[in-house]
Amino acid sequence: MRNRLLALSGAALLLGVSTFAVHAQTVATATLPDPPKFDAQQLPNFVSISDIMEYKALPEYHEPDWVTKQFVDTGKLPAVKDRLPKEPLVYKTANEPDGTGVYGDVMRHVIGGRPQGWNYAAGQVQGWGGIDIGMYECLTRTGPLFEVKADELEPMPNLAKSWDWSADGHQLTMHLIEGAKWSDGVPFTADDVMFYWQDNISDPNVKPLNSSGPDSFGVGTTLTKVDDHTVLWTFKEAFPKQYLYTMAYGGFCPLPEHILKPQHPKYSKNTYEQYQNAFPANFMNFPVMGAWVPVEYRPDDIVVLRRNPYYWKVDEAGNQLPYLDELEYKLSTWADRDVQAVAGTGDFSNLEQAESYVEALKRSADPAAPARLAFGARTIGYSLYPNLSGNGWGEPDARAQAVRELNRNTDFRLALTSAIDRQHLGDSLVKGPFTAIYPGGLYAGTAYYDKASTVYYPFDLEAAKALLAKAGLKDTDGNGVLNFPADQAGGQDVSITLLANSDYQTDKSLAEGVIASMEQLGIHVILDLVSGANMTATQNSGKWDWQIYRNGSELISVVQNTASLAPTGPQTSPFHRAGKDGSVDLLPFEQQMVDVVNKFIAEPDAAKKADLMKQYQKLYTENAYTIGLTQYPGALIINKRFANIPAGAPIFMFNWAEDNIIRERVFVPKDKQISAELHPNTLPGKPGDKGGPISAN
Ligand code: GLA
Repeated sequence: MRNRLLALSGAALLLGVSTFAVHAQTVATATLPDPPKFDAQQLPNFVSISDIMEYKALPEYHEPDWVTKQFVDTGKLPAVKDRLPKEPLVYKTANEPDGTGVYGDVMRHVIGGRPQGWNYAAGQVQGWGGIDIGMYECLTRTGPLFEVKADELEPMPNLAKSWDWSADGHQLTMHLIEGAKWSDGVPFTADDVMFYWQDNISDPNVKPLNSSGPDSFGVGTTLTKVDDHTVLWTFKEAFPKQYLYTMAYGGFCPLPEHILKPQHPKYSKNTYEQYQNAFPANFMNFPVMGAWVPVEYRPDDIVVLRRNPYYWKVDEAGNQLPYLDELEYKLSTWADRDVQAVAGTGDFSNLEQAESYVEALKRSADPAAPARLAFGARTIGYSLYPNLSGNGWGEPDARAQAVRELNRNTDFRLALTSAIDRQHLGDSLVKGPFTAIYPGGLYAGTAYYDKASTVYYPFDLEAAKALLAKAGLKDTDGNGVLNFPADQAGGQDVSITLLANSDYQTDKSLAEGVIASMEQLGIHVILDLVSGANMTATQNSGKWDWQIYRNGSELISVVQNTASLAPTGPQTSPFHRAGKDGSVDLLPFEQQMVDVVNKFIAEPDAAKKADLMKQYQKLYTENAYTIGLTQYPGALIINKRFANIPAGAPIFMFNWAEDNIIRERVFVPKDKQISAELHPNTLPGKPGDKGGPISAN
């Protein structure tokens, strides 16, 4: 059913559409078709956070026998009880799907990324696929929240073991875990946290990977040290509990001050570039708080990580975690990750490139298949992002500036959205009930989604062409390509670059689909394929017109990275950042989105929060803030020998499955263990030691 609204402004009152949408005078909306039925194969067993974990001292602690014999008995390592914090993080047996585990074995990952180095604090990529997730621990943790009861949702404590709010809600005191140590035995303290905040997150010349800068914790927020294990946040808003989510993966995962500070330009003669590159991928044994430490790197071949002897988490029987002694990362392609996981030569994959679904499903259906494959909800989604900065981000030339002006024109974005045949685009990836029409904004099927607040502009080329004419675009030279208005970029042909990640077939397929759609409108699109390793830096540089982007978790959970749902600060949005003068040139509807998001962050009442997200969704989709493309489910593929994989673990929700499944708790029963460890009975050596792992023999 389609309602052609000849004058949306006139119909606005009737439909409850805000009148600022007067741009959209001749554009059609339609009832959004419901996504095809596709049920997640398993549901989580919903629990409280206190069912999963607690912090407490246990009467005794254990470790693998070989660690005691080779390292402790020989005086190379203190006893396990002395390596653990006063009160370790304890995982409760009742929440471990297969109970207390046993030591040994390896999880063999395959990835398409490549490590640039270990300086996550300065934005280096570790190769994705969960390498960084296994190395760096964060103040809070959100991955496992997929199994936490909805009405008890809040981030799990992690390096921050507890926190209290001041009566007025402007101050948050965080208590850090006491007596925990980095993997090289150096104590973890509030100084590590402060160094990360002051000299990394808040230093404008440094950008931690996945971080949206200090404003992602609220504009004007400060952090100070109280004592060695206490830090104090001060917020402008009262009780902005949302920021606890930003303190999880991506937002606040401190790196070792004792290793990084001597290389930081503020404390050395290094440039910022030298700081960033001070720990190249062949710098072994980089100290971490995570369960595994990188001990071997062979370019284009493999990264191997061994157990962290100082890891600060245990099971209820007092066994120091992780159970798995080794993680391997074969450096290949993302498509190979699916193939190897299905074949059993790899152990894990997030099946997320829809092009390989049919083959993977067919092979996994055999009861003798080595891996199990379980589909979850539709949480993989892509959008076309227009660069909305009109005041200089990325230093655009005349052509690029003319594109920015178009991007900022709502008629233009509505033309783009009307030119996409989403059904066809989805089917071109994979036929069947997987993909759903995605108009942009919050995903159908997620907690804050509201269909009635979702404005859907169906595929309509004629409407798209009319909107382009309205935006002032004409083919003035009759060559089949539209021209910019005469006063912009000399009225030349409209050519637009499209940034996409070359590591993924899906990103490339979608980019090609978009290019074909735009051709029909007379818009010339030039594909700019960038490898995953360089993608983040290119995105952050602002030197792009459009990009195809696999959406972040904020559009699923909303409570995570909430500040990046709109340009709430100069750096918080991935596609609309501040220009040279430090200000963001917000469009009127963006200002409304910012206001709604800020209200959401400050709003304690659940019903009001839900209502604010309806407003957000309406502003987003009505204005085609981004051009939604497709939304589909992912499947987790894990080799059947692994135990303690939680039911219903999604490949992507608050975080990726590598975090969601709580890998430090995953184990392989003795009779199923394979002899695949590359460095059995070894532990990480000294930081920077090129010799890699050490054994005490
Ligand atoms: C990449 C992969 C995802 C996931 C993440 C983890 O982005 O495509 O499936 O493994 O890395 O960071």
